[in-house]
Order: sequence, then C-alpha cells, then structure tokens
Amino acid sequence: MKHFLLSLALAVSFVCCNAVAANAASKPGSFRVGDKTFLLNDKPFVVKAAEVHYPRIPREYWEQRIQMCKALGMNTLCIYVFWNFHEPQMDNFLFTGQNDVAAFCRLAQKNGMYVIVRPGPYACAEWEMGGLPWWLLKKKDIRLREQDPFFMERAEKFETKLAEQLRDLTIQKGGPIIMVQVENEYGSYGEDKPYMSAMRDIIRKAWQAPDLTLFQCDWSSNFTKNGLDDLTWTMNFGTGANIDNEFKKLGQLRPNSPKMCSEFWSGWFDKWGGRHETRGAEAMVDGISQMLERGISFSLYMTHGGTSWGHWAGANSPGFAPDVTSYDYDAPINEAGQTTDKFWKLRKAMEKYSGDFDPATGKWGAPKKLPAVPKEYPTIAVPKFELKEFAPIVYGCGGLETSADQNDLTFEYNGLGWGSMLYSVGLPEVPAQSVLSFESHDYAQVFLNDKFIGKIDRVKHETSLILPATKKGDQLLILVEGMGRINFGRAIKDFKGIVGEVKMKATVDKHDVSYTLKGWEKWSIDDSYEWAIIALEGANGKRVDEYHEGFAKETKALGTRGYYRGYFNLKKVGDTFLNLENWGKGQVYVNGHAIGRHWYIGPQQTLYVPGCWLKKGKNEVIVLDIMGPRGEKTIEGLQKPIIDKLNLDRPQTHRLEGQSIDLSGEKPVKEGEFKPGNGWQEVKFDQPVSGRYVCIEALNSHMNREYCCIAEWYMLGADGTRLSRESWQVAYCDDEDIESGNKTADKIFDLQESTYWSTNRGVKYPHHLVIDLGQDQTFTGFQYLPRVEAGAPESIKQYRIYVKSSLFKGL
Ligand code: GLA
Repeated sequence: MKHFLLSLALAVSFVCCNAVAANAASKPGSFRVGDKTFLLNDKPFVVKAAEVHYPRIPREYWEQRIQMCKALGMNTLCIYVFWNFHEPQMDNFLFTGQNDVAAFCRLAQKNGMYVIVRPGPYACAEWEMGGLPWWLLKKKDIRLREQDPFFMERAEKFETKLAEQLRDLTIQKGGPIIMVQVENEYGSYGEDKPYMSAMRDIIRKAWQAPDLTLFQCDWSSNFTKNGLDDLTWTMNFGTGANIDNEFKKLGQLRPNSPKMCSEFWSGWFDKWGGRHETRGAEAMVDGISQMLERGISFSLYMTHGGTSWGHWAGANSPGFAPDVTSYDYDAPINEAGQTTDKFWKLRKAMEKYSGDFDPATGKWGAPKKLPAVPKEYPTIAVPKFELKEFAPIVYGCGGLETSADQNDLTFEYNGLGWGSMLYSVGLPEVPAQSVLSFESHDYAQVFLNDKFIGKIDRVKHETSLILPATKKGDQLLILVEGMGRINFGRAIKDFKGIVGEVKMKATVDKHDVSYTLKGWEKWSIDDSYEWAIIALEGANGKRVDEYHEGFAKETKALGTRGYYRGYFNLKKVGDTFLNLENWGKGQVYVNGHAIGRHWYIGPQQTLYVPGCWLKKGKNEVIVLDIMGPRGEKTIEGLQKPIIDKLNLDRPQTHRLEGQSIDLSGEKPVKEGEFKPGNGWQEVKFDQPVSGRYVCIEALNSHMNREYCCIAEWYMLGADGTRLSRESWQVAYCDDEDIESGNKTADKIFDLQESTYWSTNRGVKYPHHLVIDLGQDQTFTGFQYLPRVEAGAPESIKQYRIYVKSSLFKGL
C-alpha cells in the first residue's frame, strides 16, 4: 500500500466583509458596580442582555440578528469568544472576516447595544472542547483549566491577542463593552481559587483597563467554591427556576451586590439520538418578568442560538453525547433569524420594562416604544437534485506527522484536528472467533479484508465487536470518525481516534489467547472543504486515483463511503434547509462553506443554509458521507427545518419490553424520607456498602401526585466526597417521560441541575431507577437534588436504596 502526502498551498477563503464604521462619536463612559445596582455612566442600569454567538451567525447576517435582539427590548449583547475559533492552529490567530470580533462589537454599538465579552479561555457553550483548541492535547499530560504551565502560557497568549482586538472598545474608551467574564462556571469543574485568580490576572493585564468590570458566573449551589473577593458574582439558571432561591445565598454573602442571572436558559440544546428539546414560552417570559420586576439584570441564553457550522458542535458527558449542528436552542429568535411565538410573548413583556428602573422605589418608569422588528430573510425551496459525482473516501486520505509513533493512534498525536482517521494492520492467525476491543472516539467502522464487520459507537458505550476466525496477514481496516470534543465536565480532555491499544482475544483449543495489535499504517481524512476538493478533483495537476493505485483493497472495502458532489441552480437566493434524510453520517459543504454534520438518527434531519452563502446560477453541494447514502443520492431544500425527527433502532428509554425489576428478598441499604423543597440533600449510610448497581426506589411524592422527578444524583465515596460519574449508565428505569420533553433517566447524572428525569403523569408509584456504575465501588452515602423550580415539583418523599454487585432480578 502506498503512503501519499499532498503538499498544497490551500487558498484561504474569506467571507466578504461588510464595511462597519466605528461609532467614532461615542464619548468615554463608565460602567460600575454600585449599591445593589449596576451604574452606567453613574446612573442605575439593569442589564437586559441577549446571548448570541457571532461564530454561529454568518457575518452578513450579524446586523439583522443584533436588530432582532434590540427589537426584543434588549440593551446588551453577551458573547463568548471561542479560543479554538480564533487560534485553530497554534499561533495562527484569526481575527478577520467571520472571526472579526471587534467588527461585531462595533456593529453592536452602531445599533445602540452594549456588549458583555466572555473570553474564556474556556466557554462550554456546546462548542467543540468548550472553546479550547485541540492542539493543546498534543501535550498528552496537559492539565486543562488548571495551572499547567503550557495551558497558562497559551491561554495568556490568546487572551492578550484578543484584548489587542478589543481593549479600545471598552466603555471607558468610548466603546460598547461594559463587562468581561473570567473563565466559565468553574464550580462545575473543580475548586481552584489560585487558578481562577491567575486567570483573572491574565485577563486584567491583557485588557490594560483597571476600571473594567470583571465578573465570574456559576450556579447558586456552587459559586462560593471559587468566588474571588474582587470580582462581581453572577448566577446561571434556566427557565422555571425559583428566582428568589437562586439569589438567596448571594444576598446573604453580598447583600449590596447587584443581582444578575448571567445565563437564563431560554431553551436547551439537542444531542444526536435524543429528543428535540423545548421549553415553554410562558415559563421563560415569567422568569424574565420576575427578574425585571425586582430590577435583576439578566442575559437570555440563547436569545438567538444560530448554527454550529462545520465541526464546531461539541459534546456532553458523562457518557458521550455529541451535539447536533443546529443550535436553535428553542430560543425566541430561531436558527434562521425568524421570530417565534416566544419572541412575540417576550417582546410584549419586555415592553413593560423598557423605561428606566429606579432602585430606590423598585419601580420602572414609563415604557418606551420598542424598535421595530427588522425584516426576516426570505426562505426558498430547492427542488430535488442528484449528487452524481463520487470519490471514494480513501481519496481524501492524507499524510500524518512523520515523527509520530506508529502505534499511537490518536488524531492529536498524529497532528490531525478534525475529521476521520483510517487505520490498517495485519492480523495474526486466530482459528476461532475473537473479540476485538478498543476505545473508539467516536464512531468506528471495522472491516476485515474487503468485508464490513461492524461498528463501535461511543454514543452507545460500545467498546468491542466479534471478529470471525482470521488467517495470518488478513487485513484489519478501521475507519474512525471524530465528532465534537466534549465541552463540559472533566471529560473535556477528549482525544479522538483510537485511544489506547487495540486488542484481540479468543479461546483457541480451550486456551485463552490475547494479542495487542501493532504495526499500524494510518492516514488522516481532514474534514476541510479543501480536502473534499482534493478528493474529488485531485491536486497539483494529478488525478487523485493515480495516487491511490495501492489503495485498491481499501477502496473496495469502504464501498460507498466517500465524497458526493452535485449542483443546483437558483434564480433567486434565500435561506433554505437541506434535507439529508437519504444520507448516512458525515459533513456537508455548500459553495465552500462547511455547514455542519448530519446523521440519519436525528433529531436534526435538515441543515440550515443561509441565503448569503448561495448565489444566482450554479451552486455546489458536497456530502462527505462516512457511512454512504441510505437511499437515493438526492437532496432537496425545504422552507422549514426538520429538527425533531428521530430515527432510532433502539428506544431512548431504559426498559425493555416486558421487563420489570423484582426486589423481593432484597434488603435496602437505606430507607428514609426526603425533606420537601428545593436544594441538595445528603444522606449517609450507617456503614459503607459496596456494589456496582444502585437502585433508587421512590415510594411516593411530596405532592401526592403520580409522577416522580430527580434533577441530579451523586454517590459518596469512602472519604465522603462525590464519586466520578464518567462511567455511569442507566441499567433500568421503569418509566421515563419522552412525550412532554426529554426527561430520560440519564438526566440525573448529566451534570446539569436544570434538567431532570421524570416519569409520565399518572404512572403509579413505586418507581425504580437502576444506575450501573461500571464497576464495584464503595459508598458511604449519596446526594440528591430535586427539581430547581419553586417548591421542587414532584420531589420524592419516602425512598429506599438497594446496592448490589450483580443486576437485580427481572433485569
Ligand atoms: C452552561 C454554560 C453555557 C452552556 C449552557 C447550556 O450554562 O455556561 O456555556 O453550555 O450551560 O447550554
């Protein structure tokens, strides 16, 4: 087989820029923390911020989206700055075109909006690795978001480069920027004030602005862990939360501090294979109204979510839950920048609070008229067209860093950021079936000689498959696609490709044999548009197939996996939603723009294409499909999105047909009664217990209604601290509500206090939820969080806990 390396000078395409005039007339001003209120130019000010992410909106549409936020009654825009978007390769800083964050801030100012900047270095935001650059992982032992010298040095460099772009745009210098955030929700990652202090110092030094207001955001349950004395503290919580409760502790600790909800979640994000998330308009409007009634500042996350183009969508953990391309978020302004029912309801409520707030009286002045709602961009349908051109996936194979160790199989170590890797190795003779096992990050397809054997899908916690008997020299081929790197929790150190060793185990003539496969050949399949073109058209004047004479076997094995290209003609451009329902899994490019990932499992079936990236006449569409099409090789453009259609081979719920847990003869390790109301509760066992399976039995609820909810759950280890939930899975749950929302049992360990497991209404108690911890562990107790809404709806009253090393009867 031939190695091949194409050296190409890739033309970098810049998005055409709108000329944006700086608002030169603006005078220097001030924004400070006063007594129980923010002060803008020395006058009380309630921040009404709209969270929007400029990388998720085509630059051509920035202004329309800003005006939409303003028409909602917002006075500020809140933006993350994703480090990896601005430094995709080390020391290659991008601040022009779509990445021109300063231009975005000036555009905000031109439209009369202030700006809050959240420069990380970590952001979360369902963005690849929470905004951290993948190349940090080239240093394998790096400690992310800690005082690791390399992490700190690189973070400082980025923060300084960014501040060079923005420091002249602070309000003190006549610009729109009123506040800057340090780090992001560090309390849900760890407890490390020295790190937080160091990050604060880096940002302060970079911005060279002693009067700039710096703040940190966290949850009311954990903000004290890392709260720095000289920063403003703000709280994050979602629609439905009990507002007074959320600010209770802050009020006690800092009675004179202004209150701000720095992320009030309007909706929620979607993951592949999960039901589309929605949150009611009434609850959102009610929360905002309650805050404004009390003069509390807020940022509505998201006011407009937009799209995680290309490979920028992240993933969540525990487990691996990659996020879909659409970041619609069920926000008031939808993915295509259109108004929704939520938009109109919120606008109506916001109008009431459009005057000036007087903290002395707690009253709002006479309402002002909100600005007119700007025009939406038109949508168009595109008739069905065929993608006739095809190049096998191996035509996109490129060389890797030559220094790399042959048997180290991660993307990062081999110098690949995003895309897929193809691996090949010769097998030993094993005259019986064997188990092939490895850690697949994230979607691996395995081939033996020219036959597809099966997949190892990280989403489904798969780690192995069965190989038939092999002869010496048989070729094993593995194609691994990396999805978004995890953006939340300790698992953000998320290497891609094959992580660790690949093992083959079998029993031959009653003897166990085990091989660690070595001697790998490997190729990168970079997911950039430029590489798609190389695959389809060749490079340096050569057809790619000439390079690939040696790839005949692989090409056959990989079959229909590859690059498909087709065209459609337009007389009139407009936004459209490309329907990928006929396709498998991969990425799509339109006129050179990487528009995102598709995966037939849904819930997202269409990909949003903004009209500004289309043109009159001929338009090009390329689909890189790592599974191959499932039906006709056609696509059509719809006028409405499909983001709520699941196509699963197995339900998302955790109870098999006819399955029912049998606890007869089991003795609970603890039984008791939870207190009513909001907040964490901790229960200690009488003595330590060990086991792998924990069954929570809920006997009744405080509301005496027939449904049951839990927001979060932890087991406490031998030393009384929370055990890691990385390897947790739901082994069984008697009932899960996936009709009124995405309320599956895994929500009790998703590290999100605002999401929860719920049974369906009317299904009678008792309820049972069994967690599989992955291995035997020793516990001294547990922590339980009921729902965060006022009064903790449907919280459990009496409970019993059972712990076992083997599964319970009936499962
Ligand atoms: C947290 C993070 C955000 C985002 C939301 C969920 O609040 O700070 O970046 O991830 O959760 O959408």
